[in-house]
Amino acid sequence: LDVSMDMWSYFHTCLVSIWLHRFYIYSAVALGISLWIVIQFTTTRTKRKQSCGSPSSPEGTSDKLGNGCGPRQAQRIHVAGVKIFYGSQTGTAKRFAKALAEAVFSLNLPVEIINMEDYDPEDGLVEETSSRNICVFLVATYTEGQPPESAVWFCKWLEEAANDFRVGKSFLQGLRYAVFGLGNSAYVDHYNTVARRMDRWLWMLSASRIMARAEGDCNVAQSKHGSIEADFEAWKDKFLTRLQALCRGEKKPCRGKCKKGKCKTSGKQSKESSDREHGMSEQDNTEAEELFETSSEEEAGDTDSVIDVEDLGNVMGHMKKAKVLLLEGVWHGIAVWHSAQFIPAGLGAPWGSEIVPAHGYKLIGSHSGVKLCRWTKSMLRGRGGCYKHTFYGIESHRCMEATPSLACANKCVFCWRHHTNPVGTEWRWRMDQPEQILQEALEKHQNMIRQFKGVSGVKAARLEEALAVKHCALSLVGEPIMYPHINQLVRLLHQQGISTFLVTNAQFPEEIRRLEPVTQLYVSVDASTKESLKRIDRPLFKDFWQRFLDSLKALAEK
Ligand SMILES: Cc1cc2nc3c(=O)[nH]c(=O)nc-3n(C[C@H](O)[C@H](O)[C@H](O)COP(=O)(O)O)c2cc1C
Repeated sequence: LDVSMDMWSYFHTCLVSIWLHRFYIYSAVALGISLWIVIQFTTTRTKRKQSCGSPSSPEGTSDKLGNGCGPRQAQRIHVAGVKIFYGSQTGTAKRFAKALAEAVFSLNLPVEIINMEDYDPEDGLVEETSSRNICVFLVATYTEGQPPESAVWFCKWLEEAANDFRVGKSFLQGLRYAVFGLGNSAYVDHYNTVARRMDRWLWMLSASRIMARAEGDCNVAQSKHGSIEADFEAWKDKFLTRLQALCRGEKKPCRGKCKKGKCKTSGKQSKESSDREHGMSEQDNTEAEELFETSSEEEAGDTDSVIDVEDLGNVMGHMKKAKVLLLEGVWHGIAVWHSAQFIPAGLGAPWGSEIVPAHGYKLIGSHSGVKLCRWTKSMLRGRGGCYKHTFYGIESHRCMEATPSLACANKCVFCWRHHTNPVGTEWRWRMDQPEQILQEALEKHQNMIRQFKGVSGVKAARLEEALAVKHCALSLVGEPIMYPHINQLVRLLHQQGISTFLVTNAQFPEEIRRLEPVTQLYVSVDASTKESLKRIDRPLFKDFWQRFLDSLKALAEK
C-alpha cells in the first residue's frame, strides 16, 4: 500500500509541476513550429533558385517555356505542345511545316506535324479545345480557290460545321490557332482563298486566333518580303515570339478594342507593324482588325448553345462532359427557299430544279426539298448516328431528310430564313405530285451520297448501303403536313419499304387527325404558354393557341 501511495504522490507531483509550468511548454512548442516553418520556407526558396538559376540547362529552358520557373507539374501548363497541320500539293507547305516544327522543338516544346489528309477533324479538332495545344494551319490554295486534294475533306468538314446551324457556335471554343496561307497573288480573285476561309470557319466556330492570319505570296513582284520563303520566315519569327509569350502565360496584347470598355489585358501593339509583318492586303487588314485574337464566341459575349433534338443520341454519350446544355424547344426548323420559288396555283412550270439553295439543300419541284443530314455523313464515315440510332437502331446513313412543303404557317424566331421562306395558313401554290417528289428526292439524295465516294474516312460498305434509303425524316424545314397529298406521299414511302418520321409544328390539328399512320409522329412544343408561343413561333393563325392545344389532343388520340 505504501509503495502505491508513493507512486501516486510522485505522479501527482509531476502533473502539478507540468501544470504550473504549462506556459513554458506552450512557448517551447510554438517556437519549435515556427522554426520548422522557417526552415521549410528557406529550403524551398533555395531549391527554386537553383532550378531557375541555370538557363543553359535544357530542363531550365523547358520549365521557362512551359510554365515559368518551378517544377513543371506544380505549375499551370499554358501550352502543352504545337500541332502543325499542312495542306499541300507540291510540297511547299509540308516543307514549311517541317521548318516550323524544328523551331518549335528547339524551344523544348512537343510538336507534331499532321497532313490534313490523314486527319479526322470530326473527332480530333474537338479534342484540341481542351488540349492546351496550339494548332497551326499551313494551307495552300489551288485553281479557282480550291484547297489541295489532300485538304479537301478537312476544308469540307470545317465549312459544313461552321455553316450548319445545328452545330453549336461554340463548337471549337478553347482551340487556339494560327493560319499561314500559301498562294500566288497573280491569281487575283482567288488569292489565298483557302487560308482565308479556313481562318474564318475556325473563327465562326469560336476557336481563338493567337495571331492574325498571314499570307505567303509566290509572286516575287508582290510578295511583302520578296518571296514566299521570306514571308514564311517573317511569320515564323512572329509566331515563335507569340508562342513563347503564351508559354509564359502572358495574355494577348490589348489593341484598345475590348467590348463595353472592359479591357481584359494590358499592353499595346502597333497594328500597322503587325500587318506589315504579315504581308496583308488592305481588305485583309480590315478583317484582321476586327477579328484579331478573338473568337466569334468571345465577340458575341455569350456561351449558350442550342442542342438540336437530332443530337440527343450524341448528347447522351457525352452527358458527363457537357458544360452547357440548353435544350430549346423540341425541333428547330430552318427555312431555306425564297418565296419567289413558289409558283402560285395555275401558273407555269416550276423554276429550275437544279438550283442548289444555300446550306446544301436541294430543291425538288417547286415546293419540296432534300438535304444530307450531318448524321448521315457521320455514319457514312463509320461514326455514330442521331438519337434515332441511339434509341431505335435507325441507321442514319440510310436515312433521307426531306420535306414536301418548304412553306410554313409560323415565322419562328429561331428559323434562319423566316423573312424569305413562303408562309401561309393554307396551301395556295401549284402542287407537285407525290410520285414526282419521291422520285426526285431519292435521286438527289443518292447523288449527294455518291459525292462522298473516295472521300477520306468514308466507308465503302456504308456508302453502298446508303444508296438504298430505308428511312425518311419528313422534318427538314417548313411544315410537311401542309402538303395536301401528304398521306399519298407517306404511302408511297411505305410501299418502297421506307419508314417515315414526320415532324409537325402543332398548327394543323385536323391534318394531324387525317394523317394516316406514319412510323413516328412528332409535334413540336416550342413554348408552354400562349404568350411565349406567340413570341417564339410568331404564328400566322389568330387561333394559334387553340390549334396548338388541339394538335396535342390530336396527337394523344393517335
Ligand atoms: C495550278 C496552280 C493553281 C494555283 N491556283 C492558285 C490560286 O487560285 N490562288 C492562289 O493564291 N494560289 C494559287 N496557286 C499557287 C499555290 O498556292 C502556291 O504555289 C503554293 O505555294 C503551293 O503550295 P504547295 O507546294 O504546298 O502545294 C496555284 C498554283 C498552281 C500550280
